[in-house]
Amino acid sequence: TANPDYDLSKPLNVDGVGLRQKLASYGDPHFSLFMRKLFIKALGYSEDALSRPIVGIVNTYSSFNPCHANIPQLLDAVKRGVQLSGGLAVDFPTISLHESFASPTSMYLRNLMSMDTEEMIRAQPVDSVVLIGGCDKTTPAQLMGGISANKPIIHLVTGPMMPGSFQGVRIGACTDCRNNWAKFRAGTLDIEDISALNEELAPTAGTCGVMGTASTMSCVLLALGLMPLSLPSATAPAVSSSRLRIAEATGAQAVALAKSQLRPQTLLSRESFLNAITVLQAIGGSTNAIVHLMAIVNRHSRLAGSITLQTIDDIGRKTPLLVDLKPSGDNYMTDFHNAGGMIALLHELKDLLHLDAMTVTGRTLGEELASIPSRSLALDSPLKSIIRPFNQPLYPFSSLIILSKGNLASAGGAVIKASASKDRSLLSHSGPAVVFSGPKDLAERIDTHDLDVTPSSVLILQNIGPVGNPGMPEAGLIPIPRRLAAKGVEDMLRISDGRMSGTASGTIILHVSPESADPESVLGIIQDGDVIAFDAERRLLHVELEEEEIKARIGKRKEMMMREGAGDAWVAGEKERGYRGLYRREVNQAEKGADFGFLTAAGPG
Ligand code: FES
Ligand code: MG
Repeated sequence: TANPDYDLSKPLNVDGVGLRQKLASYGDPHFSLFMRKLFIKALGYSEDALSRPIVGIVNTYSSFNPCHANIPQLLDAVKRGVQLSGGLAVDFPTISLHESFASPTSMYLRNLMSMDTEEMIRAQPVDSVVLIGGCDKTTPAQLMGGISANKPIIHLVTGPMMPGSFQGVRIGACTDCRNNWAKFRAGTLDIEDISALNEELAPTAGTCGVMGTASTMSCVLLALGLMPLSLPSATAPAVSSSRLRIAEATGAQAVALAKSQLRPQTLLSRESFLNAITVLQAIGGSTNAIVHLMAIVNRHSRLAGSITLQTIDDIGRKTPLLVDLKPSGDNYMTDFHNAGGMIALLHELKDLLHLDAMTVTGRTLGEELASIPSRSLALDSPLKSIIRPFNQPLYPFSSLIILSKGNLASAGGAVIKASASKDRSLLSHSGPAVVFSGPKDLAERIDTHDLDVTPSSVLILQNIGPVGNPGMPEAGLIPIPRRLAAKGVEDMLRISDGRMSGTASGTIILHVSPESADPESVLGIIQDGDVIAFDAERRLLHVELEEEEIKARIGKRKEMMMREGAGDAWVAGEKERGYRGLYRREVNQAEKGADFGFLTAAGPG
């Protein structure tokens, strides 16, 4: 045997690596090793191959997942990197989640995927793991599972898709999906045009081509130090050869990780998360990333609870929005990539970053940045405006705002991407509520002629929170009533306990907690005509009702819920079977990450 650790004749070191990992499958550890070896040999591996560090590669390919369509090529390239560096590459599947093919929502399945990832990493004799993923919920699920399993991990994202073209104008999923659908609703685009657009909005494999959740999480992973900085790991297009070279380098790095045993709970520090939040604010990232970051940090045994929504707001106040991408700006991920990508941005943000944070190479962020100078663009490059200099931002600060004052936000907070507001006068606004009790009510009434609504009304959608509507759907982008849209109204103040796609824009308040399905929720007792006051600068979200009136309405609502018993969303989870029952019983609120309580570092309770 090439590696004495694997020799069956020697006393067994059960804390060894690879096949000798402490995996008590058969009680007798020596016999367990014997069994593992004989079964894996059925795959044709030699003693030499089995004596190498084993790099597990998580394969999330599915024919229902176009964002992961390039995974077969990426797998090849990662394996090449592993094997050129003397490791043994072994890929294995976990579930695959695409935004459009994960009913009721991909978020509903994110925690399931994190459990799948955690337990498969734990179960199998891997010395380090490459997590290949890209679509919105995949990377957070993989990191949540990876932190909990706490074996060395490195991320490889599938990369963004290329933009398409319609009538000579560039388009891309999915900001332009929404903008153009709104035009179709308003009657300014006809059926032929919207059908032609349908062919071009997602023209290649890869993740959505704007700063949606997938791209945001890629940038966040790089800022956390979980992908190599020496290559454009966050931004290289899915269909580029650069993406394949990144995959090869990731495989090589995974072998080094197998040897160094640098684990995520050691690698990730408070400073890593502060850096990630700084990047999140500077890119005008997806509001979904806030939920994911809370879930991720709460899986970390040292850091759980120490980074909160307030941390995100505090960092926002000193971080300018520098990246001009849709939905906050005008451009596509390929432009960001070509303009220098994350390295250029990190250099720009240097003064705000904690440069001593560790990265997956074992070198600090500062050491990595010092060895990779930012390449400057030609003076006449049209990409000059994509990554703004620190002192000439696109938006001065606080692209993502946390609301924490007023009776609608002081308990669990709420979130708004101020930089994606289309009508910035709405960032300080007060108006009468038009309340929809859920998605069905919304669908039935939003376009009716007798809906009592004006452009200054505040549209409220209840019951799309984590428990009330398992998976917390991305329904927070309440459509402008057709009647108003036809008159040219493009933005209104909208509020819900749900989420919104990272690719969407508008003056939209999300993640109101506690959600309206909670009997104590203030959002749950708002009625038509109640006056809502919102002031982004003061972090205020308030319904102008006396404290006593709120208490009376809550009391009345609770009585009704009691009478309806199992019909009520809040208690139904107690009796529901399967994953849906588990989800409704265990999911926590958005400000904690909408994770299952029992999966957090703090555990159940
Ligand atoms: Fe997968 Fe947008 S649908 S990233
Ligand atoms: Mg999305």
